[in-house]
Amino acid sequence: MSAGKKRVFIKTYGCQMNVYDSGRMTDALAPSGYVPVADAESADLILLNTCHIREKAAEKVYSELGRLRALKEAGAAEGREVLVGVAGCVAQAEGEEIARRSKVVDLVVGPQSYQRLPEMIARAGKGRAVIGTDFATADKFAALAKPSAPPREARYAAFLTVQEGCDKFCTFCVVPYTRGAEVSRAAPAILDEARRLASEGVREVTLLGQNVNAWTGEGPGGRPWGLGHLLHALAGIPGIDRLRYTTSHPRDMDDALIAAHRDLDALMPYLHLPVQSGSDRILAAMNRRHTRADYLRLVERIRAARPDIAFSGDFITGFPGESDADFADTLAIVEEVGYASSFTFKYSPRPGTPAAAMDQVAEEVKSERLQRLQAAIERHQRAFNAARVGTVAEVLFERRGRHPGQIAGRAPWLQPVQVQGDESLIGSIARVTISRLDANSLHGELAGRDLPVEMIA
Ligand code: 5AD
Ligand code: SF4
Repeated sequence: MSAGKKRVFIKTYGCQMNVYDSGRMTDALAPSGYVPVADAESADLILLNTCHIREKAAEKVYSELGRLRALKEAGAAEGREVLVGVAGCVAQAEGEEIARRSKVVDLVVGPQSYQRLPEMIARAGKGRAVIGTDFATADKFAALAKPSAPPREARYAAFLTVQEGCDKFCTFCVVPYTRGAEVSRAAPAILDEARRLASEGVREVTLLGQNVNAWTGEGPGGRPWGLGHLLHALAGIPGIDRLRYTTSHPRDMDDALIAAHRDLDALMPYLHLPVQSGSDRILAAMNRRHTRADYLRLVERIRAARPDIAFSGDFITGFPGESDADFADTLAIVEEVGYASSFTFKYSPRPGTPAAAMDQVAEEVKSERLQRLQAAIERHQRAFNAARVGTVAEVLFERRGRHPGQIAGRAPWLQPVQVQGDESLIGSIARVTISRLDANSLHGELAGRDLPVEMIA
């Protein structure tokens, strides 16, 4: 390693937004001479990119900091300074407290302040921790360094953050407090980044945002744009063959976005549309601002636009006041929608959120409901995957498979797919006849001629 180069190790917890942000932090640090490394032991700067969404977030950070103390001391013994920073949502919510309690921490940086990292690091390591948790008034998107090439594992399918923050204030959720108000990145910057990704060989782009479908912007001539318009523009970029977006709030699925599911082949037939609960009483207490019937109607409209679409959801069990009847409504909505996959969570009171002060459900009840819900969801997931057997799916091959001679990629509905095939197909989209499934993956054979779809067309 050349003189002057320093090594940064970033440990990422939580959502894809954090994965993306860790990449942007790496980029922001590059001009200061930092190169990313894959292990904490050799790093000069260790950043924990934390998540606050559920339980024990701060405890996890403290125990990780305990481990890092040893590395810091070992570095000091060799005359090497090791800086430790806490980033992400725990930093935003509890960073100052963490810095007070842990002597290991040299800096605390919230998600709105990553553009300040170089300047903060220059001041760090001089005793007191440097804190950056203001909600910057300047546009974080504009201020951050331009992303570098996508990481190797994201060569063909990349994430692109287009929106951040949330104004919905669901009563269980910390995001509006840790990530702040909804902010959209400007359309030209998004399109530029997508073009650059395409020029580097990326074929699939997943737009990220805490409330991605609340994205707003301007098209040519200052015309107001929503996510549907943006998707149209992105689908027009040569090389971008697949688009996805996550996570969406049911209230922000507008007509233009639903029409995009009808009109854009590139928009994959898979939508993550959390409902959280199937009970109107609980939906109201959660401040979701829609009913069970609203949600089911929406699902129907999206299915009418794109009949092969599959849904995934997020669910919470044991929200304060949830009765057996409320939970039965949640199980029923799972049956009605028939989700292809879902994420399930036990309700976890987050300090400072309204639901934390409501009447809590006993822990055993939350756990028992979680298990029943997971069983129902797994049954649907297996049925959905089993229904793929014997059909042909287009797969974007992204990497070598588990065994020699295998390549692996993803189906339109995000399942991993393994086939026997030549490595030269990695990076292309090919038709695969699905032949069987195992616990997590679909298996199949390249359909017809051993050629990427774009060459058959
Ligand atoms: N407890 C449990 N689950 C939560 N989620 C958000 N906040 C909480 C909480 N306090 C879940 C929601 C959300 C997903 C990202 O995390 O289901 O959609
Ligand atoms: Fe949290 Fe609700 Fe906003 Fe999603 S929509 S980030 S659950 S407050």
